[in-house]
Parts: sequence; C-alpha cells; structure tokens
Amino acid sequence: MTDKPAARNTGCFITFEGIDGSGKSTQAHLLAETLREQGLTVRLTREPGGSPGAEEIRTLVLEGDPERWSAESEILLFTAARRDHIERTILPALEAGEIVICDRFADSTRMYQGLSRGDLRQMVDQLHELMIGLEPDLTLLIDMDPETGLDRALARKGSEERFEDFGPDLQRRMRQGFLDLAKEFPERFRIVNGNRDVETIAAQLAGIVLKHIA
Ligand code: ADP
Ligand code: TYD
Repeated sequence: MTDKPAARNTGCFITFEGIDGSGKSTQAHLLAETLREQGLTVRLTREPGGSPGAEEIRTLVLEGDPERWSAESEILLFTAARRDHIERTILPALEAGEIVICDRFADSTRMYQGLSRGDLRQMVDQLHELMIGLEPDLTLLIDMDPETGLDRALARKGSEERFEDFGPDLQRRMRQGFLDLAKEFPERFRIVNGNRDVETIAAQLAGIVLKHIA
C-alpha cells in the first residue's frame, strides 16, 4: 500500500450509518446472512475497530472519561483506527472480490467528530483525503426518531462511554446531520425508515443491496 489506499475495481463496499440505537448492527448481521444465503462471500466488520489494532484504539476512544481526548486528538485516533482497518481488513477483502459490510465508517467521523464539538468538518475531510481516500459504493442510512434510538441504545449500555452519553440534543443534531450528508452524497446514500419492525427493514435493505449488486 502506498500513501493512500489503492484504487480498486472489485468487491463491493457497503456501510451502515445512523444515530446510536437505530438498528445498524442488527441490520448489518441480517444483511450479511441474506447475502451469504445467496452464495456471496461477505466480510462483516465495524468501526471503530475491525482489525486487531483498530479494536485497541476502539477501547481508547469509547471507554473512560468522555472528555479524555481533545476534539483534534480524537479525530486523529478515529482516523488511525480507520487506516489500520482499511489496510488489514477492508482492502484485502475487496481485492479478493468480497462484499464488505461495515457498521459505521467515515460518515460517522464527519458527523460525530465533525459536528459534535464545534465545526471541525473541514479538518475531518482533509485528514480523510490525506489518509483514507476510500468511499463506500453504497451507504445505508437508517433514519429514525432520536428519542427512540437513545432509549434503545441506553437499554443495552455496556462499558463503552459512547456518544449517547451526550444526550438527546446531540442525537437530534446527528440525525439531521446524517440526512444532510445523504443530500451531499446522493449517489451512494439510501435512506431507510428505522421506525418499523426488524424484518420489514431487513427486507427493504436486502432489496436495495441485491439490486445494486445486480
Ligand atoms: P445500533 O447498532 O444502530 O446502535 P442495534 O442494532 O444495536 O443499533 O439496536 C439497538 C437495540 O435496539 C438492540 O437492543 C436491538 O435489539 C433493538 N432493535 C434493533 N432494531 C429494532 C427495531 N426495528 N425495532 C425494535 N428494536 C430494535
Ligand atoms: P457503535 O458501536 O457503532 O455505536 P452504536 O451501536 O451505539 O451506534 O459506535 C460507537 C460510538 O462511536 C458511537 O457513539 C459513534 C462513535 N463514532 C464516532 O464518534 N466516530 C466515528 O468515526 C465512528 C466510526 C464512531
């Protein structure tokens, strides 16, 4: 790998985005299962994390005091994790022609690090351009009511000090931010209503992805 991840022309890179508790991880698993049943080879992964080094960085950014890192240090940590994830997991899978399904990716950094503590979007974009340079083929945005998302996320709370700790106001801003991002990148974003039962959402997502792959 050179300075930037190499351009690629095989595989398919699909990301899930949305606020905490919107059902990304549930739907990413179901989608992987459906595609595997169709005989496709799927690599299911997540961010922050997805490679041994990036999982270590995940612990650094999601556990402990939420104010542990400055906004700028946090952008660097998420980007370092992503770079490792791309080098070791995502690009090798894409080059092998696999379908990569990733639970959150760079759009989450554009939102959480770019918007939550002042306007740092430009810094996020510059670092992305310099160090990542890879965009998904398809981004599935699960849009939903922020209060419901927060209730769900808090109900399954573990040791990770997530951004959900910042409360409903941040959830509302993130929801609107993701909808704005979908307008910014309309060619790769698909918005799906997450205020429905798991099976209905899964069926719609499978339809979108199978059409895209075909
Ligand atoms: P995310 O990865 O976006 O944070 P999860 O998939 O972990 O969301 O879902 C958060 C919680 O909500 C989990 O307990 C999950 O079982 C539940 N959940 C997911 N999708 C739905 C749905 N459509 N309706 C009701 N509960 C759901
Ligand atoms: P995740 O485990 O996907 O949380 P959830 O299942 O609640 O949606 O991600 C953990 C947290 O990390 C989440 O609150 C969003 C945050 N995050 C960022 O702030 N920046 C990033 O670049 C990524 C990938 C995640």
